[in-house]
Amino acid sequence: MTLESLATIHPARPDRFADGSVHEVMRRLRNEAPIHQTKDSEFGSYWSLTKYKDIVEVEALPLLYSSEMERGGISLIDSEFAGAEQAEQNRMEMFIAMDPPRHTEKRRVVAPAFTPSEMTRLAGSIRERTAARLDSLPKGEVFDWVSMVSVDLTTDMLAILFDFPWDERHKLPIWSDAITSLDMIKNRQQERQVMMFEMAMKFFALWQERTAAEPAPDLLSMMIHSNAMSKMDQVEFIGNMALLIVGGNDTTRNSMSGLVDAINRWPEEWDKVLANPGLAGNAGSEVIRWHSPVAHMRRTVTEDHDFRGHAFKEGDKVGLWYISGNQDEDYFEAGDRFIADRDNARRHLSFGYGVHRCVGARLAELQIATLIEEMVARNMRVEQAGDVVREHNPFVNQILQIPVRVTKAG
Ligand code: HEM
Repeated sequence: MTLESLATIHPARPDRFADGSVHEVMRRLRNEAPIHQTKDSEFGSYWSLTKYKDIVEVEALPLLYSSEMERGGISLIDSEFAGAEQAEQNRMEMFIAMDPPRHTEKRRVVAPAFTPSEMTRLAGSIRERTAARLDSLPKGEVFDWVSMVSVDLTTDMLAILFDFPWDERHKLPIWSDAITSLDMIKNRQQERQVMMFEMAMKFFALWQERTAAEPAPDLLSMMIHSNAMSKMDQVEFIGNMALLIVGGNDTTRNSMSGLVDAINRWPEEWDKVLANPGLAGNAGSEVIRWHSPVAHMRRTVTEDHDFRGHAFKEGDKVGLWYISGNQDEDYFEAGDRFIADRDNARRHLSFGYGVHRCVGARLAELQIATLIEEMVARNMRVEQAGDVVREHNPFVNQILQIPVRVTKAG
């Protein structure tokens, strides 16, 4: 096999994420060109940062490296890719794609939904639903873990957070997938528009309903009755709903699927957890590190400057490759392996870093640790029974399918 030229390498090429070969490319960039520029691609020209310390440095300077939608937003898949007309139609105002100080006050509104005391309040229902889901799985038969466990558990969680009508909750992952799917953005724009319209109408109706009602602890009501967000217009309200749906859905879902991928590659690591259930929390963080549900975040340079000898120009796109920083050998020994009792698993970059660090991180950790604890309580082994199917997507590291069979350990 001939080695690709470093000069033309395009790490965000979507097929690399479907076949898993992205890791080889990232390792090569970490070793040979940790600050690398792809001059030409379907996502335009972009820099790739692949080392842990460089990613952290950029995230710590949100005004020099902007997340603003106006400058291009948070993903290499941007309006340049989607086409200007579609970008305009899909325009969503969300606080993940804002810089301080606008970002600061909006984030403050949703943060109280994720405090440790809120997590304690939610813990019981998360455990009950997780236990019931595991108990209902077919015994000895092959089934898809993604649809029957990962999607199901994360959808219910979101419906609870929003107090979304329970019998319509299946729409949440459909909308979430429509927002992030590269295929829909590129090839099925009209279908995507219809779904986005349906989502907007539903949330608009809920907005009106909750505005008229007394304040309640669900996220929608919290936002609507807050000072910072009560005056937001419909576009911004719907943008923030979309953010929470994708934020809380695809990411946690993919960690739950990544868990099965990890414990099938390294069954001895699952044995460690079965033997020591106290490892559940650490193993959860380790899955989030190893799988990296968000492969990258993008920033846009706001001023010409030198970054470690490279001329960064205003308007340049910078890809912060969490999928690579999380495997950086300078931080994580044997970073390409899942190690349930890894000492520094929690120092991963999967939740980002700095002012935008994931606001839902505690909830995600709680959901994943609970899933592992309940699997251990049932002495479960989840054996892969077919190929893992992944999406062609350089943004959300999406697992579409994992056929499995559940058995008892030992
Ligand atoms: C394993 C699961 C999750 C992962 C890997 C993840 C990952 C991320 C990442 C990478 C960011 C951007 C960080 C940055 O730019 O520095 C982010 C932000 C965010 N996440 Fe998560 N997330 C997860 C779960 C959740 C959950 C459960 C929710 C809520 C229900 C959520 C809501 C958000 C929100 C609202 C933001 C925007 C924060 C801001 O801009 O200040 N996420 N997440």
